[in-house]
Amino acid sequence: MPIQLPDNPARSDVLAARPTLWTNPHYVRNAIEDAALPVRPSDVDAAQENWRRLAPLLKTCFPELKPDSGAIRSDLVPLESIRDALGYAGAEYGTVLVKADSALPVAGSIKARGGVYEVFVFAEQLAKREGLLKEGQDIRRLAEPDAKAFFSHYTIAVGSTGNLGLSVGIAARALGFKATVHMSSDAKTWKVERLTRLGVEVVKHDADYTTAVENARVVAEGDPTIYFVDDEQSRHLFLGYSVAALELAEQLQARGIVVDADHPLFLYLPCGIGGAPGGVAYGAKNVFADNVHCFFVEPVQSPCALVHLMSDSEDLVSVYDVGLTNRTEADGMAVARMSAFVATVMRGMLAGVFTVDDASLFRWLRDAHESQNLRLEPSAAAGFAGPGFIASHPLGKAFRDRWNIADRLERATHVVWTTGGSFVPEDQFQAFLNMANEIG
Ligand SMILES: Cc1ncc(COP(=O)(O)O)c(C=O)c1O
Repeated sequence: MPIQLPDNPARSDVLAARPTLWTNPHYVRNAIEDAALPVRPSDVDAAQENWRRLAPLLKTCFPELKPDSGAIRSDLVPLESIRDALGYAGAEYGTVLVKADSALPVAGSIKARGGVYEVFVFAEQLAKREGLLKEGQDIRRLAEPDAKAFFSHYTIAVGSTGNLGLSVGIAARALGFKATVHMSSDAKTWKVERLTRLGVEVVKHDADYTTAVENARVVAEGDPTIYFVDDEQSRHLFLGYSVAALELAEQLQARGIVVDADHPLFLYLPCGIGGAPGGVAYGAKNVFADNVHCFFVEPVQSPCALVHLMSDSEDLVSVYDVGLTNRTEADGMAVARMSAFVATVMRGMLAGVFTVDDASLFRWLRDAHESQNLRLEPSAAAGFAGPGFIASHPLGKAFRDRWNIADRLERATHVVWTTGGSFVPEDQFQAFLNMANEIG
């Protein structure tokens, strides 16, 4: 049954698949303090502690990590000459930075933060439960040959449009697990090939992401040796991502960038099912409270978070329910139905969602490459629309008035989260650039 979206200034653009901005009418101050939420600020602290404990093991498994930390971190870089190409040269755009998860080590996308975290936390729990790791024992024990031989009796399964599969597959194989990735039809061939080379079993579904996840879940349910990373419900994924906000806070501070009531921070987060952007947004609210405003960004044909949150429905609303196709070149965001868990957490915490068309993604991908040598995949370029929506769109102005920040734009900081791309093979990347040039 088609769903009727409520009256809203963004509705006609959403339904016509035109780029637009929806601001969340339920966005409130102190939303993170809501005791009814299924996640708490202390969970982020616990996740950070887990990352710290796992760092020596990560360093052993992934020599590409910086030797001193064992942390999966990305750079925060100022937007330079591309500001002109984007039309953001004016002072009203404040400071614009890129959080370059596109170059995250281990998996080349933001999914390293969630997928690697969940696999490693599971491995530690399993090893403790089975007596392979004693209290206080060196965590690097889990990379020893007998531990890997033990893990090889278990399979890690996941449904993915590509990047989560890469991150989970890489992490699982590094510890000796078997791995199965259920891919949606949007998955790019190079991602499938890379996984296959790693010894990961890839099951390609001739269906969308939601169906791939459902199939993966059914297979896992009947078998106790399969651990299923559930992108629709996983708290581990969410919390793995959330710690990125602490990293961001440290980097902003190191640059002398103040975030307070006079100096608002805006985050632009590409959204598929919502886990990655939701986790980062939750972590950011935990650190910066009401001084940060988090926006998701989605393709015009796949705005699953937008249509569900706009609908105010108890039941999940998909993009098909409102007549959209879920067709986009941005494979990481080709998701028709968002995570119910993330929807619950974001309801009062998300400032809004904006949409972008595929042609713009390719242009920004090219501009980011030409001006700053960033290597992005289409999904990862989506956040570049953010400062424009906030500073120039009428609904952005209404948002600024409502939040009393109309006069603070010059002092604001915008962070465009570029979420993936460094693993894209050269020929595929050239094809993206050709596509951009054809579009003009
Ligand atoms: C490059 C990229 N950006 C953003 C996302 C969105 O993450 P999520 O599906 O957790 O919302 C994905 C998901 O795979 C992705 O691959």
